[in-house]
Amino acid sequence: MKLKIACIAGDGIGPEIVREARKVLDKVAQCFGHEIEYTDILMGGASIDVHGVPLTEEAVSAAKAADAVLMGSIGGDAATSPWYKLSPERRPEAGLLGIRKALNLFANLRPAILYPELSGACPLKTEISDKGFDMLIMRELTGGLYFGERKTVEENGVRKATDTLVYDENEIRRIAVKGFAIAQKRKKKVTSVDKANVLDSSRLWRNVVEEVAKDYPEVALEHMLVDNCAMQLVKDPAQFDVILTENMFGDILSDEASMVTGSIGMLASASLNDTKFGLYEPSHGSAPDIAGKDIANPIATVLSAAMMLRYSFDLDKEADAVEAAVQEALKAGYRTADIMSEGCRRVSCTEMGDLLVERVHK
Ligand code: IPM
Ligand code: MG
Repeated sequence: MKLKIACIAGDGIGPEIVREARKVLDKVAQCFGHEIEYTDILMGGASIDVHGVPLTEEAVSAAKAADAVLMGSIGGDAATSPWYKLSPERRPEAGLLGIRKALNLFANLRPAILYPELSGACPLKTEISDKGFDMLIMRELTGGLYFGERKTVEENGVRKATDTLVYDENEIRRIAVKGFAIAQKRKKKVTSVDKANVLDSSRLWRNVVEEVAKDYPEVALEHMLVDNCAMQLVKDPAQFDVILTENMFGDILSDEASMVTGSIGMLASASLNDTKFGLYEPSHGSAPDIAGKDIANPIATVLSAAMMLRYSFDLDKEADAVEAAVQEALKAGYRTADIMSEGCRRVSCTEMGDLLVERVHK
C-alpha cells in the first residue's frame, strides 16, 4: 500500500519526536511491504519564522493532498518567545485551530491509559491506581467557544470582552455518533459530559446525545456535569470508558486525564473528520524547555502514528506491531527521562526511537 503522509514537525521538541516516529513508520513499511511518501509542512512558530503567519494556504493544500497528517507539537514559551508578541490570530496556536477547521477535524480522540509498567508514575493513591484505567476522551474540536464570535470593546471607559459558545444539533450529532460507534468497539459505555444545569448549549447537547443513543442500544449512556467529571477523574478513573464532550470541556478534562496517568509523554491523539483522513499528534505540548536536548519522549508520537495506521489506513496488524514494540521496550526497562524510575535504564529520544525500530516486526 502507498501511504501519503504529511508531516508537521512544528516547534520545540516537535522535530525530534516526529523524526523518531518516522523511523518507526519506515520500519513498518519495510516489514509489511508498504511505501511511504512524506511531505513536510510548516505550521506554528516554524511557519511564522518563514512566512510570517502560523498557517498558509499552501500548507492546508499540502495537508489535504495527503492521506493523513503526522504532527509533533507547536508553540513556544509565551513569556520569552517573540511569537507571542504577535496578535492572537498570528500566534502558533492559531495555526493549529486553523488547520483543525480547514480540514473539518471535528472529532478529537484522546486515549488516557494507565500503563501497568508505569503505574508507579500515577499520582493517585495505589488503591485507586491498582484498578488500572483505559478511557478515551472524545472531544468536539471545531465548534463551541473556540470558534464562536469574539470581541473586545471599550464601553464608557470600561473594557469588555465577549466569547460566544454556539453548537447546532448537527455538530453535536456527528461527534455523538462517532463516540457511540467507538464505545461499541470498547467497553460499551459513554459518559456524556456537559453543564446542563446552567448552559443552553449543554441542554441541547444532552438532548441530541440521547437521540443518538437510541441507535446504540448496547451502549450504556450516562450524563455527568463537567465539574463532577473533573472530580471523578481523580476519585475513580476506572469508571470511564468513552467520555464524550464539547470543545472547551474536552480541552480541560483531557489534560487532567493525561496527568492522572502520570505519563503524558505516552499519550497519543487523533483528530478525525467524516472521511478516513486524520491528523495525529501527541497529547503533550512542545516542551520548549527541553527542545534540542534529545531527552524528549517520542512514544506519544509513535503511538499517534500507530493510531494513524489503524484509523486512516485500516492497517490494524501494523498498528498492533508498533504498540507491541512500545510495550516490549517498556518491559525491557527502557525509559526516557520523563518516565524514569529506579532500576530502569534511561535512554535518549534517539535511543528510544532505535529501540522501538528494533522491536517492530511482522
Ligand atoms: C490542545 C491545546 C490547544 C487547544 C491549544 C494549543 C490551542 O491545548 O490541543 O489541547 O486548546 O485545543
Ligand atoms: Mg489542551
